[in-house]
Amino acid sequence: MRVLGIESSCDETGLALYDTERGLLAHAVHSQVAMHEVYGGVVPELASRDHIRRLIPLLTHVLAASGCTRRDIDAIAYTAGPGLAGALLVGASFAEALSQALNIPALPVHHLEGHLLSPLLAADAPDFPFIALLVSGGHTQLMCVTRVGAYELLGESLDDAAGEAFDKTAKLLGLGYPGGPALARLAATGKPGRFKLPRPMLTSGDLSFSFSGLKTAVLTLVRNTTLNETDRADLAAEFQEAVTEVIATKALAACRQRRLFRLVVAGGVGANLRLRQRLDATLSAAGGRVFYPELDLCTDNGAMIAFCGAQRLAQGLTQPMQPMSQGAFAIRPRWPLDQLSMDSLSTDSLSTDSSRP
Ligand code: KG4
Ligand code: ZN
Repeated sequence: MRVLGIESSCDETGLALYDTERGLLAHAVHSQVAMHEVYGGVVPELASRDHIRRLIPLLTHVLAASGCTRRDIDAIAYTAGPGLAGALLVGASFAEALSQALNIPALPVHHLEGHLLSPLLAADAPDFPFIALLVSGGHTQLMCVTRVGAYELLGESLDDAAGEAFDKTAKLLGLGYPGGPALARLAATGKPGRFKLPRPMLTSGDLSFSFSGLKTAVLTLVRNTTLNETDRADLAAEFQEAVTEVIATKALAACRQRRLFRLVVAGGVGANLRLRQRLDATLSAAGGRVFYPELDLCTDNGAMIAFCGAQRLAQGLTQPMQPMSQGAFAIRPRWPLDQLSMDSLSTDSLSTDSSRP
């Protein structure tokens, strides 16, 4: 079975073709970073319009790269949420139109479920059950995963997500968008410890996170001090140490709580090399192991959506929501992952609320 995956929840248009027997046949991503850069962040309306422009060329590219035609596609999986409402609608309407034209099913997929299962696409994939650490621009969550479709939330950020904290702090340090990779690059040239930043909730005894205080601490330093290049690099390094120390400590605590020392990391911040170093060291000291998606599948992409849709279909899982409801496209801008099994779409889900994926 070949599943086409479509991702359009934020500022990347991603398409991919996944074959349940042969694996990932092809995937392609168009990043809108250059377009949003001048505004210092994602402009939702521009994002939606750009997704419209990119979908057909990317589909043509993915089909050519996999040596397939439209007729070889057996099902279409698309990101139905969480994400920016307009951007999600573009992917949903494209998927639904293609599904009607080709007379094949369209499956709404949860963006975070896609991230969470993406390490299973790697050559050396983990077995179930595992602890999952989701660290993206909109989420910082620890989950216990017993099988595809069963996600138990163990703890999450009470305020900013890790990626959001990286982005906001990068802005304070005068770095461009997207801030995470830029801050990580600057941090690599600096020394942590010269500036002292807090480790929020490190000893709270639970699995919750809080990152907004860290950003405020950086803001106070930036306002009250004249920082030269070296200072900015040292501050970036200290910020990265603080975030990664808290995440690694909580991830280990989650593993200990469940006596399960297989940790799967997904989401954009999972590309951070210092975080990877720390997680690897922490888990291996406890006799455990960390699994990551391939580096190019850490950030948003269509491959994880195609794979997630294929897993759900292959295992005969019911869909988290109906593709179409009363003639309206199925999208859900706000959609908690641990509600996945209980959910079905109602038309009020098509409200104008929006959140980052
Ligand atoms: O998963 P993702 O691509 O999109 C969402 O679903 O949010 O994650 C994007 C987030 C952004 O906040 C970005 O700054 C962050 O991941 N990020 C990083 C790195 N690469 C991406 N943060 C820290 N270090 C990185 N190397
Ligand atoms: Zn994402």
